[in-house]
Amino acid sequence: WVLMVTAQTPTNIAVIKYWGKRDENLILAINDSISVTLDPAHLCTTTTVAVSPAFNQDRMWLNGKEISLSGGRYQNCLWEIRACANDVEDEKKGIRITKKDWENLHVHVTSYNNFPTAAGLASSAAVYSLAKLMNVQEDNGRQGSGSACRSLYGGFVKWVMGKEENGSDSIAVPLVDEKHWDELVIIIAVVCSRQKETSSTSGMRETVETSALIEHRAKEVVPKRIIQMEEAIQKRDFATFTHLTCADSNQFHAVCLDTSPPIFYMNDTSHRIIGCVEKWNRSEGTPQVAYTFDAGPNAVLIARNRTSAALLLQRLLFHFPPNSETDLNSYVIGDKSL
Ligand code: DP6
Repeated sequence: WVLMVTAQTPTNIAVIKYWGKRDENLILAINDSISVTLDPAHLCTTTTVAVSPAFNQDRMWLNGKEISLSGGRYQNCLWEIRACANDVEDEKKGIRITKKDWENLHVHVTSYNNFPTAAGLASSAAVYSLAKLMNVQEDNGRQGSGSACRSLYGGFVKWVMGKEENGSDSIAVPLVDEKHWDELVIIIAVVCSRQKETSSTSGMRETVETSALIEHRAKEVVPKRIIQMEEAIQKRDFATFTHLTCADSNQFHAVCLDTSPPIFYMNDTSHRIIGCVEKWNRSEGTPQVAYTFDAGPNAVLIARNRTSAALLLQRLLFHFPPNSETDLNSYVIGDKSL
């Protein structure tokens, strides 16, 4: 027999970034963060997980390519989820898996993104599907990846860091739904990086351990920005939104640079895109587009409306046509993505 579960998880993009944990096991952050959830029709990950007594090892495929699980993050994740597994019963198929059975059963995981694989955009769909298959009760949405909990809702979402040691008050809170600010359009410039990127988990660990700036960011800067960002979102104040989004992305990359050894997520192309957007925003008088970069070189561009999105795309295609020299792969347009 084979038992399968498929789940779709939307991607979210942080406009005030989460970087640093106060508890690694419970995945508790050192600051609040705010993100926007993208429309799954444009950007999401679909994962199917299957369990069968016929499988003799755990295996995983990402976009059709098998990836090695040995000792990696996914394998650890798998074991963590297995440890929380519960009894599962499929009456129709006459299958019953007990809590104990899970220790000896292997799973196959296949995950597809409906956008070109872009580092730093990976979501935790695999973890969601596994948790569903294994009837894991925990529902804080943070299994495996902290930022994933913000995908529990559409629109703009805040992940509150909380104060409790057991993480009971560290939760995702919806701020406004997807209809609130639906003129915004997201364009992602998919930029490849030559070198292997540092994973978020180890990157933020190193930052917390070595950066002299991270404490100032988490304690002084972010709390103020969170308040201002919430207000900007409520009022649909695009100028303030852009100012905060760009500043927070830049500060996140600054603390990465302040880490020892320094972490470089952006590359030359990312920097040139920033330059181009900054110049355009200044020449227009009022900002037309906000940029933000996660743990990779891809540019996430948020245009104020469809007109500016069209102009932005024109500009990008002129200055940064997809080509191998700049490592720019493609543009993903999430029209009406919000
Ligand atoms: C830069 O959620 O991937 O995208 O909790 O260690 O799995 P772990 O990290 P992850 O980190 C995301 C970092 C970020 C900023 C953000 O999304 O807030």
